[in-house]
Amino acid sequence: MRTQIAIIGAGPAGMFLAHLLRAGGIDAVALERRDRAYIEGRVRAGVLERTTTDLMARLGIAQRLRREGVIHTGTNLSCDGAMFRIDMADLTGSDGVTVYGQQEVMRDLFDHAEACGLEIVFEASDVVLHDIDTTPSVTWQANGRYFHLDCDFIVGCDGFHGIARGTMPQSATRSFERIYPFGWLGILADVPPANHELIYANHERGFALASMRSPTRSRYYLQCDVDEDIAAWPDERFWDELCLRLGPDVGRQLVRGPSFEKTVAPLRSFVIEPMRHGRLFLAGDAAHIVPPTGAKGMNLAVSDVIMLAEALGLFYHENDPGGIDGYSARALDRVWKVERFSWWFTSITHRFPTTCGFDRRMQMAELAYLRTSRAAQTSLAENYVGLPLN
Ligand code: APR
Ligand code: PHB
Repeated sequence: MRTQIAIIGAGPAGMFLAHLLRAGGIDAVALERRDRAYIEGRVRAGVLERTTTDLMARLGIAQRLRREGVIHTGTNLSCDGAMFRIDMADLTGSDGVTVYGQQEVMRDLFDHAEACGLEIVFEASDVVLHDIDTTPSVTWQANGRYFHLDCDFIVGCDGFHGIARGTMPQSATRSFERIYPFGWLGILADVPPANHELIYANHERGFALASMRSPTRSRYYLQCDVDEDIAAWPDERFWDELCLRLGPDVGRQLVRGPSFEKTVAPLRSFVIEPMRHGRLFLAGDAAHIVPPTGAKGMNLAVSDVIMLAEALGLFYHENDPGGIDGYSARALDRVWKVERFSWWFTSITHRFPTTCGFDRRMQMAELAYLRTSRAAQTSLAENYVGLPLN
């Protein structure tokens, strides 16, 4: 078998790339370890930047997004229960962001892939990359058979725990990492959200986030220990703690109900440089991780694959290698800015084990400055709605 681009992984990075390549007249095959239901079932963030919603429109997969996505023109910060709003639309001259779950995005990507016959191999096991420096190929097993695919380039879209990154020689790469000393305990519940927009809360007892999936489905998070025992968090304890951290004004609006999802996620910042070696490119979580504060993970994967698809288009249609040669530097320039924002937003809203009186006062001063300074709010807002593609 032969194709132009072998894509490893069919998460957001792999699927958006597959659609972009198809739209650009480039052949691709995506190899995915899991099945479609598993990927669609993974609960992830749900805040889309304009670049992401524009791409969905360009690909012709925005019908449901237009009907069900909810535009948020502002977001809220709270410090020990006192809340203030950042008017993102006014500050940036944009619409703001769209709240639409990543699970829904995946469903739209897969439905459209079926409709237009994109080649996705689900449940591909033992995927191995060969000869990434010369004449690349990929092998895998499925249904008890062994497959071999020759290609021009391989793109690792296989997430943080994938195999593509590890096939780059260690001597040719450098990675940067920060592991945060806490996690997020998240729940989903079919109750109306406490507020019509999100609330990021810094409280002495730790961070809390009030988010949502729809007017009838809420998503809430509490900062917790990384090894927190979920069994120690029956719903009542979660709601009580959430009320405390969001403060009495929001607490009074909080509608409680049974949760149907409860998980702990670790927080990490990670970047590998460069994002290309030989004929292997990396995109999305395979190359970088951001902590979830600000919901940048999927949006960052989208900007990577837009840049990569442009670069591959130049290579195939204009015979110009400049795009693929510049891909890593171009993508990393934006990646580091988004890493900075996610790290900063995490730093000012969470309680760190080492937080002393001085650190806490610094956080409070930072939030007090944000409350009143249009310049500080504009900086937050332009990052939150999404930096332009460089
Ligand atoms: N072979 C084939 N597929 C693999 C392999 C492998 N060895 N290892 C991982 N995969 C698949 C995973 O099953 C997953 O479906 O690669 C996909 C990677 O998807 P994500 O982890 O979602 O990564 P990415 O597409 O970069 O997503 C970026 O969306 O899901 C969020 O947290 C993620 O915010 C991040 C963003
Ligand atoms: C979510 O809804 O899951 C969500 C929203 C905003 C974030 C992170 C997660 O910053």
